[in-house]
Amino acid sequence: MALLPGDVRIPLLGFGTWQATGEAGFKAVLAALDAGYRHIDTATMYGNEEEIGRAVRESGLRREDIFITTKLPPERVGRERETIEESLRALGVDQVDLWLLHWPPADPGDMIPTWREMLAVRDTGLARAVGVSNFSTTQIDELIQATEENPAVNQIKWSPFLYDRQRHAEHRDRGVVLEGYSPFKTSDLSDPVLTRIAGAHNVSPAQVVLRWHIDHEIVVIPKSVTPDRIRANADVFGFSLTAEEMRDIDALGKG
Ligand SMILES: NC(=O)c1ccc[n+]([C@@H]2O[C@H](COP(=O)([O-])OP(=O)(O)OC[C@H]3O[C@@H](n4cnc5c(N)ncnc54)[C@H](OP(=O)(O)O)[C@@H]3O)[C@@H](O)[C@H]2O)c1
Repeated sequence: MALLPGDVRIPLLGFGTWQATGEAGFKAVLAALDAGYRHIDTATMYGNEEEIGRAVRESGLRREDIFITTKLPPERVGRERETIEESLRALGVDQVDLWLLHWPPADPGDMIPTWREMLAVRDTGLARAVGVSNFSTTQIDELIQATEENPAVNQIKWSPFLYDRQRHAEHRDRGVVLEGYSPFKTSDLSDPVLTRIAGAHNVSPAQVVLRWHIDHEIVVIPKSVTPDRIRANADVFGFSLTAEEMRDIDALGKG
């Protein structure tokens, strides 16, 4: 778990749902909840909030035991509240745990007003925490300067091959939790460093990639619609990486 402002706890492992739509999306999320994921990542843009809501209800789990993130498309500037209300209706919940601005608005002048509105929406209780996605550190600093409120999270493309120690430290210094997306799409799962370490722990290179995020306290949200992979991607808590292995994996990126 990582801690967000407002005493909100976010599980380090979440389930990605981009391109998991319709009946396949519903089944994938149900399988994920059954496999032990307690954190689901969606977005207005993914068009699957209804299916996710249905899977959450059918899982039989308590709402408060599942962390749900959705995202605001920046072209909805001026219609922020209406957009989260649509998300909540589709999901069938009163509140999401995290609401992210999906990417920086095309018009930079829209950035601060949108962020202010997201903070106001959070204050009315429709989201427990608010954050951003695909933001640079400079853009995060602009939000903090204007409102004195740091985004709880910045969700960005991340993997061992994109590892950037300095960028990670910039997030930590600002109290922003780093959440990585596309961990597999940006990885070479046949890389010899990953296969060697996977062999040493009797796990797969994909599991090593996920465990590496968790050992760095970076949130990671792998997506799969394949039942075996959904389960394997959740089974990453039975081993941990040594300091030397972490350093070898870090070295796949910029260091
Ligand atoms: N904020 C943003 O702008 C943004 C952008 C992109 C993604 N995201 C979020 O991040 C999530 C994850 O990123 P992503 O979907 O782009 O990519 P990803 O999770 O890196 O990769 C998903 C792909 O990897 C395959 N896969 C899953 N488990 C595997 C395993 N154990 N071994 C080998 N291949 C495996 C999946 O196939 P199958 O499904 O066929 O099993 C799918 O083709 C998204 O679903 C979304 O929630 C956010």
